[in-house]
Amino acid sequence: MSRTSIPDLLAAYEDGEPLTMLTAYDAPIARQVDRGGVDMILVGDSAGHNHLGYDDTLPVTLEEALSNTAAVDRAVEDAMVIGDLPFLAYGLSVERSIENAGRFLKEAGADAVKLETAPGGETTIELVDRLTELGVPVQGHVGLTPQRMNQIGGGFVQGRGDEQSAAADALVETARALADAGAFSIVLEAVSEDAARRVTDAVDVPTIGIGAGRYVDGQVLVVTDLLGLGGESYKLSKQYADLDKTIRGAVESYVEEVRDGQFPAEANVYDPIE
Ligand code: KIV
Repeated sequence: MSRTSIPDLLAAYEDGEPLTMLTAYDAPIARQVDRGGVDMILVGDSAGHNHLGYDDTLPVTLEEALSNTAAVDRAVEDAMVIGDLPFLAYGLSVERSIENAGRFLKEAGADAVKLETAPGGETTIELVDRLTELGVPVQGHVGLTPQRMNQIGGGFVQGRGDEQSAAADALVETARALADAGAFSIVLEAVSEDAARRVTDAVDVPTIGIGAGRYVDGQVLVVTDLLGLGGESYKLSKQYADLDKTIRGAVESYVEEVRDGQFPAEANVYDPIE
């Protein structure tokens, strides 16, 4: 069976079916996320803090992002795999941006790429146009764009139009420009519910929300938040499991059993001495 394609996504969108996306950064988790039935798997640059141990997304290198994407690609059969262009892997020049984006498809097996766009961001909107013309499908990303955290100053909700937040009009215009440039869907991150609804009404491609409320066409969560792996919890997310606890419990049991001689038992031994 082939993976979910853009026409498949657009057909579901036209039918009003909510779309589902989760992040994944390695093969074992990607395999379960895929078997669980999501439409899209984003190999997000949130790997920076959730997988690679950095403080945020900025240090993630192109090679790390490609390596994570290739690992996910090897595990996934059904979902669309989207590689996330890390900080400054795009935007330095059109040529380098296209070359870097192309590597996600040519070398890492991604089906599409995602890139972040600042309000009114002409550079990235032009890139979306060029990439889609060349056959590299692009998912847009507006609202809170963590690669610009040093400018934004924190994880503020966008679309409120106050000092720390883009105006809803700017988000609508940027999303429209991305859709016109060929983006096949647009992630809305940490956006007020009203602004997210306005964007969703304004564009004719699916909007995928994370902390963008209920009036969008689909949802995305960071898989480690959903799984309870990594100890953080956020208002915009929902924790469906507590893997931190499960993993720690398993490790403690192993340590205890080795120390008190329960493991290995006879059943785990080759050619046991009678
Ligand atoms: O990198 C990521 O995980 C993302 C999602 C929050 C959409 O960009």
